[in-house]
Amino acid sequence: MMNGMSAIRELPRVVPADPGKPVRKEAAASQQASLNLAVHPSSWSQDQADEVVRRYTELAPEWDGERGGYRPVPLSDALQRGGPWPDGLCLEVGCGTGLLTGLIEDVWPRVVSMDLTWEMLRRSSAQQRLQGDASRLPVRDCCAQAVVLADVPLFADEVVRALAPDGVVVWSNALGVDAPHHVPITTVLGVLEDASGRSWSAVTSHAGWGLWAVLRVNASATAETRQVTAEPRISG
Ligand SMILES: C[S@@+](CC[C@H](N)C(=O)[O-])C[C@H]1O[C@@H](n2cnc3c(N)ncnc32)[C@H](O)[C@@H]1O
Repeated sequence: MMNGMSAIRELPRVVPADPGKPVRKEAAASQQASLNLAVHPSSWSQDQADEVVRRYTELAPEWDGERGGYRPVPLSDALQRGGPWPDGLCLEVGCGTGLLTGLIEDVWPRVVSMDLTWEMLRRSSAQQRLQGDASRLPVRDCCAQAVVLADVPLFADEVVRALAPDGVVVWSNALGVDAPHHVPITTVLGVLEDASGRSWSAVTSHAGWGLWAVLRVNASATAETRQVTAEPRISG
């Protein structure tokens, strides 16, 4: 993986972790699968997609009641301390029932929230909902100034394709390193670098039971992108 100018800066925790953090017994196996998928996104299959839909269709009716209290904590902290935020469209990948969408809409007035599982998505009151698979995001190239990934699988090629060159990625795991979808921030950074061919930096912190990271292409790499993508001048 690339690791040229990348850097991770950790901010001190400001939101304490109360006792009583839930334990997800499936977390270890699920983390292994999430890591494998982040590094080898082509391993994603229709069977895996079907299993996600089966599992979240079952969880959907209880999702907000059982998990609504703690899930917004790390994302809320990320949005308060991880800025500045570029103006434009925000794409929320794996929005679920929309537990976090209101927080995102407070920052970005235009939010598209997408999910694979209709039984989760149909409960969301997001302004714009899209059903689709994060492995093939149903959006145009470079359409988003921000992509929010809160406890979802990471398909870095697709995130990079959807993101504007100076856009920002917000990553959070509501149960931190014990979350089923947790992937180490070094890996998140590394796969984004590999997918974009550019160096990235991250700001990260812990909040409540969770953790978050805000990742951006380094400024010099963004300038390089602008130069490469600028319209050629035609003279004469
Ligand atoms: C752990 S839940 C998180 C939901 C929401 N972000 C939250 O924090 O409450 C994971 C969500 O990601 C969705 N998901 C999983 N794999 C996906 C994929 N390949 N494409 C789109 N959504 C996916 C699931 O359907 C589920 O709603």
